[in-house]
Amino acid sequence: MTMTVLGLGAMGQALATAFVKAGLPTTVWNRSAHKAEALAGLGAVRAETVADAVREADLVVVCVLDYAAVREVLEPVAEQLSGRVLLNVTNGTAADARRLAEWASAHGVSYVDGGIMAIPQGIGRPESVILYSGSREAFDRWAVPLGAWGTGKFLGTDPGLAALHDLALLGAMYGMFAGAFHATAMAGTEGVPAERFTEDLLVPWLHSMVDVLPMLAGNTSVSEERRLVERVALTNIVSTSAAQGVPEHLIAPLRSLLDAHAEPAATA
Ligand SMILES: NC(=O)c1ccc[n+]([C@@H]2O[C@H](COP(=O)([O-])OP(=O)(O)OC[C@H]3O[C@@H](n4cnc5c(N)ncnc54)[C@H](OP(=O)(O)O)[C@@H]3O)[C@@H](O)[C@H]2O)c1
Repeated sequence: MTMTVLGLGAMGQALATAFVKAGLPTTVWNRSAHKAEALAGLGAVRAETVADAVREADLVVVCVLDYAAVREVLEPVAEQLSGRVLLNVTNGTAADARRLAEWASAHGVSYVDGGIMAIPQGIGRPESVILYSGSREAFDRWAVPLGAWGTGKFLGTDPGLAALHDLALLGAMYGMFAGAFHATAMAGTEGVPAERFTEDLLVPWLHSMVDVLPMLAGNTSVSEERRLVERVALTNIVSTSAAQGVPEHLIAPLRSLLDAHAEPAATA
């Protein structure tokens, strides 16, 4: 089993390093060649070109900035990829993944799409989850070596599923970060240091609220009583933000959304 990692940004380096540390024969390539030096020092084979990198590979992993870069890297070696497994862990949409899977199939390549739910420092830890979808047979064949990255979850044979779930989870994360930054800014207007506020209050609060999520799951209706209570709180957050000089453009739409979901008033 030989593997190649194309793209050695922060994430590609972490993925390739985990392969090498697991004793897997790994070839690496990056557009800016100097990023392969540290991996070569660890025992990876450094390829000068993409064609050289994929020549002996059974599994080709691509981890670059976006799908435009994926195409740029892979199209010149399309014929060489025939008969191999392509695992693309580059961020993209479900439609991007499905189109790339079709392209791979047209070139005789087995396609697996991946969504990495971890930061580079988390690669190699079992609590780091990697989502996969696409060819079940290819995933099963590579599941054990891929365990070097973290815990793999295969979501189905539709290649778009990993990207869809990845983006959904990232959306939840960005929403949480945005709310947290707003909270920190509000506290900061009275001189509360961001680090202290975050450690003492914000993180424990968010932890306790996460426990409520299973109860809310699938329940999109809000009772009128609940809506009124939440509207008071959101109105106070918006007005206090404005009074303290914190831009309200993040919080104000939440109040509008709550109003948009109000039960239509009963007509006489
Ligand atoms: N970092 C994270 O926390 C994280 C977490 C989950 C998923 N991911 C995903 O992993 C992927 C890579 O992220 P990263 O953090 O490694 O990004 P990064 O550190 O910015 O690295 C980007 C990589 O893409 C390459 N690249 C960009 N345009 C290219 C092109 N036209 N042709 C060839 N190579 C090109 C870069 O090559 P050069 O070195 O030559 O510029 C570099 O290897 C992204 O899709 C990202 O969403 C990252």
